[in-house]
Amino acid sequence: MHAYLADWLSLIVRWFHVIAGVAWIGASFYFVWLDNHLREPPDWKKQKGIKGDLWAIHGGGIYEVAKYRLGPEEMPHKLHWFKWEAYSTLISGLALLFAVYYFGNPGYLIDSSKLALSTGGAIAIGMGTLAGVMLVYEALIRSPLSRNGLAFGAVLFAILVIVSWAMFQVFAGRGAFIHVGAVVGTIMVANVFLGIIPAQRALVGAIEKGVEPDAQVVLLAERAKLRSTHNNYLTLPVIFIMISNHYPMLYGHAHGWAVLAAIGFITAFARHFFNLRHQGITRPSILVVSAILTLALIWAMAPARPDPSQAENVARVDDEVVAILVETHCQACHADKPAHPAFQAPPAGIVLGTLEQLREHADQVYQATVATEYMPLGNTTGITREERDMLGAWLRQAE
Ligand code: HEC
Repeated sequence: MHAYLADWLSLIVRWFHVIAGVAWIGASFYFVWLDNHLREPPDWKKQKGIKGDLWAIHGGGIYEVAKYRLGPEEMPHKLHWFKWEAYSTLISGLALLFAVYYFGNPGYLIDSSKLALSTGGAIAIGMGTLAGVMLVYEALIRSPLSRNGLAFGAVLFAILVIVSWAMFQVFAGRGAFIHVGAVVGTIMVANVFLGIIPAQRALVGAIEKGVEPDAQVVLLAERAKLRSTHNNYLTLPVIFIMISNHYPMLYGHAHGWAVLAAIGFITAFARHFFNLRHQGITRPSILVVSAILTLALIWAMAPARPDPSQAENVARVDDEVVAILVETHCQACHADKPAHPAFQAPPAGIVLGTLEQLREHADQVYQATVATEYMPLGNTTGITREERDMLGAWLRQAE
């Protein structure tokens, strides 16, 4: 019953988290698009302080958008702010981290062959990393480095690669991946909370007082611009990490941290194409390079093909041996009614009750158990490398 209700809780929080994230990133894409499609306004609008003009049709109505150089002469009664999308994405994301990883199934997060962590230890490392990286980022963006956008970008990327490597040293692959995602998400929300919103407040304050923004307000605005550029480049990687949760080939890889670094680079680089295009520069070579890098990554990560000359030397593996292996290492979870307390239904819908069912899932089982060592989850059953290879040999002879 506990596992059943926990599943519902995580489902509902996940649903909310995705909606909040869509609202946030959707609004952010929309405003980037708006900014890049503003045209020069007619004179009568310029005289009112409008610097950009845009017309759009959506949902059966025509919209007129005007961007002010600074602000209108008189502030409107209702000025809409975009911040709760970001905050609620972070809050629901943290709730999900606790529900799924810290208090849900420890197998996603704790790999005792790396570090035998207690729940408290895992929370301390996870939350400490989120807060620590965010503080480092905040210190950097207030430092002179923020004057050099490209150097800052390189330093930020290097920091995230180190975080990725570090997370893979302490957590199981899936938990490591999601923590890197959470670190990126936290930086992005902190950018809104600690930089962008305060800059907007300062600007509105100046307009309300009817004065030109002073040097302090201008500095805040410049940094806010850099922060929003970072958020813009981080959107594609962070979404990729969210969905990569479902692909053990990524985080189960022996060098999962490097896979993540490569994907982070490729997705952020691909974003660059769209940013340039919005500015009227079309540089397809960026997308071509991204595609080539992706293919290279797919090739580099491909599981080694078994050497056929070796296969003949391998002794045939008996059905009974495999039946016992699966019973010992898989069936506590992959059964119609799992005995494992964390599951009330077979995980990933995969039941491995009979050898026939094992054969039906041969490819997935090979990938999850032999090629990547993702299964058995957290290796709580203590399967050995020899047993994995035996299972692999049996799966191949069953082909
Ligand atoms: C402690 C519980 C547990 C044990 C033991 C376990 N699994 Fe799993 N298995 C899971 C969970 C949970 C998932 C879903 C993982 C996810 O969504 O990332 C899963 C997913 C899978 C998948 C699907 C992976 C994919 O491609 O998404 C396969 C295949 C699999 N397990 C095979 C096995 C085999 C084979 C064994 C035994 C050698 C095993 N599992 C032992 C919990 C377990």
